[in-house]
Amino acid sequence: MKGLILSGGKGTRLRPLTYTRAKQLLPLANRPVLFYAIDALVEAGISEIGIIVGDTFAEIEETVSSATCWDQEVAFEFIHQPQPLGLAHAVITAEPFLGADPFVMFLGDNLIGDSLAPMAREFLAADNPYASQILLKRVANPSQFGVAELEADGGERPGAAVRVRRLIEKPKDPPSDLALVGVYFFDQRIHTATHAIKPSARGELEITDAIQWLIDQRQAVKATVLDSYWIDTGKMEDILDANRQVLARLEPSIDPTAHIAPDAALSGAVVVQAGARIENSVIRGPAIIGERAVIRDAFIGPFSSIYHDVQIEGSEVEYSIVLEHARIQNVQGRIDQSLIGRYAEVYTAPPRPRTHRLMLGDHSTTGLAPH
Ligand code: G1P
Repeated sequence: MKGLILSGGKGTRLRPLTYTRAKQLLPLANRPVLFYAIDALVEAGISEIGIIVGDTFAEIEETVSSATCWDQEVAFEFIHQPQPLGLAHAVITAEPFLGADPFVMFLGDNLIGDSLAPMAREFLAADNPYASQILLKRVANPSQFGVAELEADGGERPGAAVRVRRLIEKPKDPPSDLALVGVYFFDQRIHTATHAIKPSARGELEITDAIQWLIDQRQAVKATVLDSYWIDTGKMEDILDANRQVLARLEPSIDPTAHIAPDAALSGAVVVQAGARIENSVIRGPAIIGERAVIRDAFIGPFSSIYHDVQIEGSEVEYSIVLEHARIQNVQGRIDQSLIGRYAEVYTAPPRPRTHRLMLGDHSTTGLAPH
């Protein structure tokens, strides 16, 4: 079985951060989102992974190729999709890589808590009658996703598997609250479907339509309702929530090259990476302090990921992601629920005049506390 990860896309809802970086490379607990998709496929026993890339191909290829967290046996192939013309179009683009093999398609900005290993085993079983297996999750806003209508109501329990009757992409009037999670199992029959469908109203070849085409051809499609969490990390709140989920499973560790001064207090699950310095500060986990970061006279609260080479002095940060080389200095009031970009600087302006001094990138968002 092969893996296909989709890592094109422009990440427009995460601007300005995605002007300068692929959204799939934004870190959760100091590792790119994309790495968790790769982990999930590797954990399911997949060792040949195709990665669909778009405009941000150079950065993605460099980051994945230089990572050392998977063993040598995992082979990556980067497949360029010249334009983001839809998920089914991505499958067409990947046909030379996929051949006639069954595969798992994983959207590179999705994060799930369940293991794919049991589903992969079932899908590969000789007596598997299904052409495709999809994952579903109950959501409050189904109109924003592909939505499934199942054969039997009783099967909508978490963990239960049932046949799919109908799928609709982003319906105005959803037939259920079961959203299509961005993880799909296919055998080679999907290739006939991707070539048979026409572009949707948004001008894309939708994978949802391709799976519906299989159903229309009387091919069986199976759905499994996810037990654990699913997060599509397309927006800032979702990124912070995904970061929380990953940090919640953090094993505490302190790199021997980190310097933790005697006046620093660490509690809960805290990871301190190589060369970090913590002085006169309180770190309350789960939290991760990246390589060479300097935390001085500061408080880092739960669910914070501080990436490498960040400096935080005289300030308090919680439930936030601070990207590499950012500097936060002498900020009064706690920084909360924030995503701070690379080389960004946050500081307290001189007392007179009493003004906010901002240099914000295009599409930035700033929430200032009332006086
Ligand atoms: C895509 C799929 C949709 C699915 C979603 C999951 O939507 O078309 O069916 O529910 O991914 O993340 P898109 O992100 O392209 O809007």
